[in-house]
Amino acid sequence: MSTPVMDKEERAAKAAADHLITATFRIRRFNPEISAEASWEDFRIEIDPKERVLDALHKIKWEVDGTLTFRRSCAHGICGSDAMRINGRNRLACKTLIKDLSPSKPISVEAIKGLTVLKDLIVDMDPFFQAYRDVMPFLVTSGNEPTRERHQTAEDRERFDDTTKCILCAACTSSCPVFWNDGQYFGPAAIVNAHRFIFDSRDEAAEQRLEILNDKDGVWRCRTTFNCTDACPRGIEVTKAIQEVKRALITRRF
Ligand code: SF4
Ligand code: F3S
Ligand code: FES
Repeated sequence: MSTPVMDKEERAAKAAADHLITATFRIRRFNPEISAEASWEDFRIEIDPKERVLDALHKIKWEVDGTLTFRRSCAHGICGSDAMRINGRNRLACKTLIKDLSPSKPISVEAIKGLTVLKDLIVDMDPFFQAYRDVMPFLVTSGNEPTRERHQTAEDRERFDDTTKCILCAACTSSCPVFWNDGQYFGPAAIVNAHRFIFDSRDEAAEQRLEILNDKDGVWRCRTTFNCTDACPRGIEVTKAIQEVKRALITRRF
């Protein structure tokens, strides 16, 4: 008996299907219009383990349950909008491969902690962005109409290079036990963004920012727990930046 000959498209479809696994996504659902309580819901889907958690969420939303609600935009680790708690750890869904999560067991997905959940995986980011705004995240110079560029040495630029990488995803702040406690602490993301300007040789408002962070809910509330550094998808040395701001507050040298 002759074997049927597959065309190119069929071969590609078969190759893709051969790689599929069945994975369970255990998602924390919350819809205040239906219930005051959140609850877990399991979704079993076929998916290539080389895909990302964001791909799985899309598949569930587009093929199984259109009410599943989450934020995402760039899908490439740039916009910072899809931080969530995956298997108990803060990560970006678009940067987390399913194969790295032991997909033979259910993969849990829930909203980040410490901020009010509005629906499913979406939290109210207003307090997070208010803390960011409070540290004056912009360059302050006397006279804002320069006639030529503001020079800076490579060493001076290097001083705050790490903290320029922040994408404001909130993975750090929402993994901090001090922030979970009462939500009043400025949080690591705001301090990282203050650091970015405090140590910029062109900026003239370092003293002001330091005074803002000298508040009872400022930098001294950090207990050096390192959760923030572990959670940062950009690999920023968050705790080190916080320590540098504390030191600058004591020495007034930046
Ligand atoms: Fe996200 Fe890292 Fe910025 Fe925190 S410091 S908001 S974890 S990118
Ligand atoms: Fe929180 Fe990070 Fe400090 S987790 S306690 S801000 S080191
Ligand atoms: Fe933009 Fe993940 S969707 S960072």
